[in-house]
Amino acid sequence: MKFDRVKSLDAIIATSKKKSLNRSLGAFQLTMLGIGGIIGTGIFVLTSEAAQKAGPGMMLSFILAGFICMCAAICYCELASMVPAAGSAYTYTYAVMGERLAWMVGRALILEYAIGAAAVASSWSGYMVGLVRNLLHVDISPLWVNSPQAGGYANLPAVVIILMITWLLVLGTTESARANAILVGIKVMALTLFAVLAIPVMNTSHFTPFMPTGITGMAGAAASIFFAYVGFDAVSTAAEETENPQRNVPLALIASLGFCTAFYLLVALGAIGSPLGAQPVMAADGSVLAPGTLALEHRCQTIVAGGTPTPLPCSHEALAHILRSIGWNRVGNLIGLAATMALPSVVLMMIFGQTRIFFTMARDGLLPAGLARIHSRYRTPHVVTIVTGIGAAAGAAFLPVGTLADYSNSGTLFAFAMVAISVLILRRTDPMRARPFRAPAIWVIAPLAILGCLYLYLSLDLVAILVLPAWGMTGLAIYYGYGRARSHVGRQDTVIPCPQKQSRDS
Ligand code: ALA
Repeated sequence: MKFDRVKSLDAIIATSKKKSLNRSLGAFQLTMLGIGGIIGTGIFVLTSEAAQKAGPGMMLSFILAGFICMCAAICYCELASMVPAAGSAYTYTYAVMGERLAWMVGRALILEYAIGAAAVASSWSGYMVGLVRNLLHVDISPLWVNSPQAGGYANLPAVVIILMITWLLVLGTTESARANAILVGIKVMALTLFAVLAIPVMNTSHFTPFMPTGITGMAGAAASIFFAYVGFDAVSTAAEETENPQRNVPLALIASLGFCTAFYLLVALGAIGSPLGAQPVMAADGSVLAPGTLALEHRCQTIVAGGTPTPLPCSHEALAHILRSIGWNRVGNLIGLAATMALPSVVLMMIFGQTRIFFTMARDGLLPAGLARIHSRYRTPHVVTIVTGIGAAAGAAFLPVGTLADYSNSGTLFAFAMVAISVLILRRTDPMRARPFRAPAIWVIAPLAILGCLYLYLSLDLVAILVLPAWGMTGLAIYYGYGRARSHVGRQDTVIPCPQKQSRDS
């Protein structure tokens, strides 16, 4: 296998020291950033979609997606401890598989972070509009809340929240992290309340039939619910702003993902066992309707008109709706309030991750250098932050949440797989390099991560599957048209021969 220009790990670490960001984050703040990036739209909104795809089998979907993410997280830990530089999967791929693939991973990370941020902002807008309606009795016109696909002009609240968060990030990392910690507290309290109220009264008979849509339905739900776990990897993008990153980054990665996985499983248990159950809504002919379709929407309306309580797959505020079904009306509304207040912390983490990746790519010469400028007063990469915010706002304005989340997943799965491949290659090509975190059983864990990502990717909807190669192709055109000639590694002729080639030749 012949790779392109490779930037050595030593060169990457040296570059990260040259244009350094402010090291202000400790293990706790970093874990908070991780949890802030993880708990969000996935659990608060997409639980309904998972129920529609898998029924009670969504319990297995949560476990499968969480397991694959944990395998990927362990791979991230090893690389993040070896290369405590901003840029995450992009940086690791640059060192191991070369510039062209690194560029492709950088492109995939735009799907993960910027499009992911747009997805969350878009779903936040739904909660916010509901809250304004319930509390203030003010109806915001759907024309200014829905994307054009759903019959509106643009999702204006989503645009506003993204721009506000962008401004917060320009002001500074520490300030952002503090605000984030408060929002994380609210989210965790909301999920705790849900579990405490829902689990003791759960009805185990609602777990049958367990897999009404079979393995395919379960896998499809896992591919969607994967979005609920995404975000832990953004911790590794903050490596250059972390004290003692060799210790703190792996710690925060595992702690944030482990914590959220445990909560998700409890929430899924409570959701399935609730009076609503989690059985999919069927068409009149007995077939399972696809989530997000007009057909499902109409079927839901018919069911509700017949006097039956709104089934879980029909709800756009899953957790709040379940609590109301148990009789906790006020608490249900509070959960809605918590989601409205806390979802922006996910948007913050995703935009933060995106800016650090763009920042690193610009520092490598693959994107215009002006993007890597650091604000003299705030010490933040303000140009790239503003550019990212505007891009994410445009996505949130014009595309619906389900579409955005699926596109985001396709990019993330590619990046996770590349990280797992990089770990294995480095174990072979650079076995003597210090690994402050040495992943156990890596020859089992990394292949499981790779195969798991591939399986989830192929379980996505067809359009989301096709987005990744299309996005990659246009990315390659930009790379050859702009980045390749300007790359610092290429220009300074500091191409480090590919390790594989070295070892083969030697
Ligand atoms: N995991 C994040 C969420 O569910 C992206 O919103």
